[in-house]
Amino acid sequence: MYRDPVQSLQPLYSRPAPTRPLRVGMIGIGTVGAGTFRVLARNRADIAGRAGREIEMVIVSARNLSRAAGIVGKGVELTDDPLRVATHPDVDVVVEVAGGTGPARDWVLAAIAHGKHVVTANKALLALHGAEIFASARQHGVAVAYEGAVAVSIPIIKALREGLTANRIEWVAGIINGTTNFILSKMRDEGLDFAAALAQAQALGYAEADPSFDIEGIDAAHKLTLLAANAFGMPVRFADVQVEGITSLQGLDVACAEQLGFRIKLLGVARRQADGVELRVQPALVPATHLMAHVNGSMNGIMVKADAAGVTMYYGAGAGSEPTASAVIADLVDVARLDGTHAAQRVPHLGFHVHAMSALPVLPRAAVCTPHYLRVPVHAAKQIKAVAAWLAGQHVPVRQVRPAAERPGMSPQVLVLTDAVVQATVDLAVRTLQAHPAVAGAVTTLRVEELAD
Ligand code: HSE
Repeated sequence: MYRDPVQSLQPLYSRPAPTRPLRVGMIGIGTVGAGTFRVLARNRADIAGRAGREIEMVIVSARNLSRAAGIVGKGVELTDDPLRVATHPDVDVVVEVAGGTGPARDWVLAAIAHGKHVVTANKALLALHGAEIFASARQHGVAVAYEGAVAVSIPIIKALREGLTANRIEWVAGIINGTTNFILSKMRDEGLDFAAALAQAQALGYAEADPSFDIEGIDAAHKLTLLAANAFGMPVRFADVQVEGITSLQGLDVACAEQLGFRIKLLGVARRQADGVELRVQPALVPATHLMAHVNGSMNGIMVKADAAGVTMYYGAGAGSEPTASAVIADLVDVARLDGTHAAQRVPHLGFHVHAMSALPVLPRAAVCTPHYLRVPVHAAKQIKAVAAWLAGQHVPVRQVRPAAERPGMSPQVLVLTDAVVQATVDLAVRTLQAHPAVAGAVTTLRVEELAD
């Protein structure tokens, strides 16, 4: 009898046999944890459809149990003991969103030792203890996923680890702290003072528990170490990052930069050079016409220069409850898909398999070569020529020199833009310039990042 071969095949979209849910334990239920609950509930069907199974919250640890009870609803066990979550026999994956580094390290290592996968948005934890945590995860055959740790809503870890795997990455640079970008934008656009802008960022849930991590550039440095590790196949090297925040940035320099056609942004830069890599976080001048100059508020923007893909750019919310939850849940979906597979088949934690990673040297600050901005207070406007001549004599390649717009009660200021020059040359020239009789006060220098090639 004739049998239609197509009819006899299993229908393409038949429902697979039900798989048991991925069971989750969560440590901490603050801004990110609460957002994760909301998004999981709101998008449950789509998330399960993508994961291939339900994602079920089993247990949550919280410091404030009555507040937590209002968020988690019925059927979820509550405890004030994070280790109970980390070692719970019914949990497949532990989500760590409590923050901090000391106790969080112990909880995460305990979870791994008990065979749990881990999802964390804790960049400080991974920047400081990543080597130990990833090694332990390899030993126990579990995954550690951390998309929410870097530029929250932007899937930049996935882009580096998966989308760009064909490429040799030359540099990664961008605005990777939402709080400081929010502060700089508020100060520039609304004339808010620093303290008021920071208070708003805290009220909106953007800032770290200790906001000095944001404003001193430390949070951006934590994230930069993870970006560099994934981009270059190097270990996580937080101690080697040159870090400068925005606390000593002056409003006058923001205005003078604008006069020269630039905006000041707190940038994280990881750049491969012939003799090592640059790892640095600092306020820098970006051309006002560049896309990066238009990343405002709490948004983040990251550019990656890769040899085959060229320059790609990623933009999205850089802080906040649901934008971070989006990344945490994406990691849960990845874990739901990979759970049960052999570790060797999975995407490596830092993009490269460990045997292919190398301890690239990190270049010292003095060796970093970029164009610079200098603001030099002088006694009289006519001394502009003396300043330019002095700098040229000190091997500083002056590209442009002009007077700053006059401001009442302020001495004249000479603004200088240079071509690319190593930091050591700038530092030496500024030290000697400082003693020049024409100079009336402290000379300010900032890097210029053209983000072009
Ligand atoms: N405090 C961080 C920021 C939160 O402002 O970027 C997201 O990592």
